[in-house]
Amino acid sequence: MRLPKEAYQNGTNPTRTIMKRRILYILLAIVLVAQFFQPHRGVPPIDPANDMLVMTEAPDDIRTLVQGACYDCHSYNTTYPWYSHVTPMNFWLQDHINEGREKMNFSHWNMSASQKHAHEAGEEVQEGEMPIDSYTWIHGEARLDASQRNTLATWFNANMPIEQEEDQRGEY
Ligand code: HEC
Repeated sequence: MRLPKEAYQNGTNPTRTIMKRRILYILLAIVLVAQFFQPHRGVPPIDPANDMLVMTEAPDDIRTLVQGACYDCHSYNTTYPWYSHVTPMNFWLQDHINEGREKMNFSHWNMSASQKHAHEAGEEVQEGEMPIDSYTWIHGEARLDASQRNTLATWFNANMPIEQEEDQRGEY
């Protein structure tokens, strides 16, 4: 039911309306200023010869799957979509990327630190833990179907380094 116009106007307090508007402007200004704060996205220079897919001479179908589903977070070859520049999304995404690279970095496959957790790659893929859900919600192309999961997991299991003892691993 629609009340006559007066009924609405009578109920509003002009000072309060001005206050509300002010608060809205302040919030808007905060959101705008926040956009100038961006996480560090720089990467060190990389030698393509040290790339995991190059070093393992991975076949084309594996390359496509791994680059499409893992490289944004587990290598220095990250493609940043537009929303990854929007605060606070940017910090949240960069956190995932930094954490992913720290665990396993396909761009530095010559370094043992990059491979420490790689023995779990097959299992992570098989169990659907990787790529992480929040990523595949947005990146439809990174969603793996059952047969892609199998292909990828089998290849990882055959080609990733096996788990090593802490003292044998050594740091780079
Ligand atoms: C959106 C970013 C993202 C994508 C894409 C992604 N990962 Fe990860 N990955 C992470 C993060 C963050 C961690 C560390 C936290 C964790 O273990 O859940 C991680 C951890 C891992 C680990 C270490 C697990 C452990 O606990 O030691 C493996 C192995 C791994 N990922 C494999 C993969 C593989 C294989 C793919 C592609 C099929 C992939 N990830 C795709 C972000 C990602």
